[in-house]
Amino acid sequence: MNMKAKKICFKNIGQLVQVQDTDPPRLKVYRNCALVVSGGRVEKVFRDTGIRASDYARVVDLKGRAVIPGFIDPHTHMVYGGDRKAEMEMRAAGDDYLEILKNGGGILSTVNATRKASEEMLYRSARERMKRMIALGTTAFEIKSGYGLDLETEKKILRVGRRLAADLKVHVTLTYLGAHAVPEGVKKKDYFDFVLRYLPEFRELADGVDIFCERGAFTVADLKRLFLQAKLLGFQLRAHVEEFTLQGGCYEAARLGAISCDHLEHARPHDIRGMAVAGTVGVLLPGVTHFLGGSKLPLVHTLLDSGVPLALATDCNPGSCPTYNMQTILTLATAMYRLTPEQALVAATYGGARALDRHREMGGLRPGQRADFLLLKTSDYRDLFYYFGENFVDKTFLAGSAVSGRKEPVTD
Ligand code: NIG
Ligand code: FE
Repeated sequence: MNMKAKKICFKNIGQLVQVQDTDPPRLKVYRNCALVVSGGRVEKVFRDTGIRASDYARVVDLKGRAVIPGFIDPHTHMVYGGDRKAEMEMRAAGDDYLEILKNGGGILSTVNATRKASEEMLYRSARERMKRMIALGTTAFEIKSGYGLDLETEKKILRVGRRLAADLKVHVTLTYLGAHAVPEGVKKKDYFDFVLRYLPEFRELADGVDIFCERGAFTVADLKRLFLQAKLLGFQLRAHVEEFTLQGGCYEAARLGAISCDHLEHARPHDIRGMAVAGTVGVLLPGVTHFLGGSKLPLVHTLLDSGVPLALATDCNPGSCPTYNMQTILTLATAMYRLTPEQALVAATYGGARALDRHREMGGLRPGQRADFLLLKTSDYRDLFYYFGENFVDKTFLAGSAVSGRKEPVTD
């Protein structure tokens, strides 16, 4: 076999940022180096001297600019119908997120729009969204259902997620979020019984399950019942916990072996200790706090000091955080949580991979890992954080190949 045919050398990289799988994970910055990609994976990073073009199928000059690992977004609800722009006025007038949901709006209005949309319509809108996200630097995703709340629509959403992964050649972890809200016209108990009864049917389509454990949604007792069954069926466990109110779901989720606990604004040190012992990843979503105008922040430094692996995610959804942009999330995380650029970038790459249990194969640009990387418009990765508000991703590479992102704005 001609190995040379497969090798690409990216030379003249001003700064290459790797994430080391240490405890805690740290960035390693190489200057003036080259990156060799073979079969879509990182082969090696070396000093940029004496590169022989004849050793490679292609040599690409990156002109002194910075290369970082692609972002991994481990919490999205990006397959949905309609939009929730009207809720911005309602919130400005004083309604809060949970009140809007209680009155049949919020998540339930997206459920109506998603049920009405055909699979093809959902696929087309989510594909445009995903292309935009890739152009902005995201190279692996988690996608939840949860806007169907019936068998047919929940499956439709998950099938769309599966098609996106195959068509756009990105990693997608799929999560069944039947326990997102109680649909209109159904008793809570009956709906939750339905979620439990049909859980095995989702084993084919989804890698994990999730639950919105919150006032007006599902209880800690529901979380325990769901997780015990889901665990037996071999699902990964994720949970929306302690977002608007303290319920105690975080501790129980960690105890039952959740791979991630997400949101955590109201989580206590006790909950964080539980996560640390269990090795549960904390997925933080500063875009939600920002978009909904909240002020309560998770105990981010207690999480860090306790050794809980941290990830950052968009939550990309039409209600609480309609953003496609992980760069914005990084900016918010440094400002709101007082994270260093290093801590934020580790969370947005390695942390996300860890939340998807894929940290061995992606999220770090270490030899053997998928060559999913971002060529920045600058030679210093810290510019991403410093000159906030600009798109610093020039090109996104998936398995070593540049993808052309969508340039026009996306509207639904
Ligand atoms: O992560 N909290 C519940 N679920 C989503 C929001 C979904 C929606 O509002 O449509 C969240 O914030
Ligand atoms: Fe969410």
